[in-house]
Amino acid sequence: MKRLIIVFLSALLLTLSSGCSKNSNTKSSVKSAEPTSDSSSSVEQPAVKALAKVHSTEVIDGVTYIDGILIVNKTYSLPKSYNYGLTDETLEAFNNMAKAAAKDNIPLVIASGFRSYKEQEKLYKEYSAENGQKEADTYSARAGYSEHQSGLAIDVNGADFSMVGQKDMKWLEKHCTDYGFIIRFPKGKESITGYSYEPWHIRYVGKKTAKEMKKQGVCLEEYLGVDSEYK
Ligand code: DAL
Ligand code: ZN
Repeated sequence: MKRLIIVFLSALLLTLSSGCSKNSNTKSSVKSAEPTSDSSSSVEQPAVKALAKVHSTEVIDGVTYIDGILIVNKTYSLPKSYNYGLTDETLEAFNNMAKAAAKDNIPLVIASGFRSYKEQEKLYKEYSAENGQKEADTYSARAGYSEHQSGLAIDVNGADFSMVGQKDMKWLEKHCTDYGFIIRFPKGKESITGYSYEPWHIRYVGKKTAKEMKKQGVCLEEYLGVDSEYK
């Protein structure tokens, strides 16, 4: 049928890459300043090893999955017809998270969940008219390129910058991985994700992936070895 499977090897030279996470797995060759009794030790080779990670990419009916994870960003779009609402798993995970947050007296509500291609088109046009396309591109996805269309993304509570540093955002930051969500556009990763920091925009990836990403300190593009640029 229309199922097209492309598998390619993506070699990531993590050690020297400036775009890498602070917590990447590369090992430092910096020696201790402490004196050593072994003055005869040979010159240490720099621990510059290319860590090649193999990713599998599948394109199924116009939707790209890398290592089984749906990716949509400025590089990878969704078909206009991809129109299924929030996934059951995403909604269930959010509801469980909101229940736990409520116990800590933190209300979490969905400000914006699924957005269709047409809704995103309207929104992006409004932002572009208001602030110009270049500015709009830093915080709003073009139609077909929004994660909200995937049904896996949710904007929480007020979804604006007045929330930065507030206790609901802090709660999310601390606990969302326990429910399978990541903060999709983290601070400091703007040049990699292609978007400004959005503490309110969470993306469902499942608990295992979310926890692993948090541990590594990487955003989704880094985790999957992809970029996010309109071509
Ligand atoms: N604000 C995010 C990038 C979106 O429009 O999907
Ligand atoms: Zn969002």
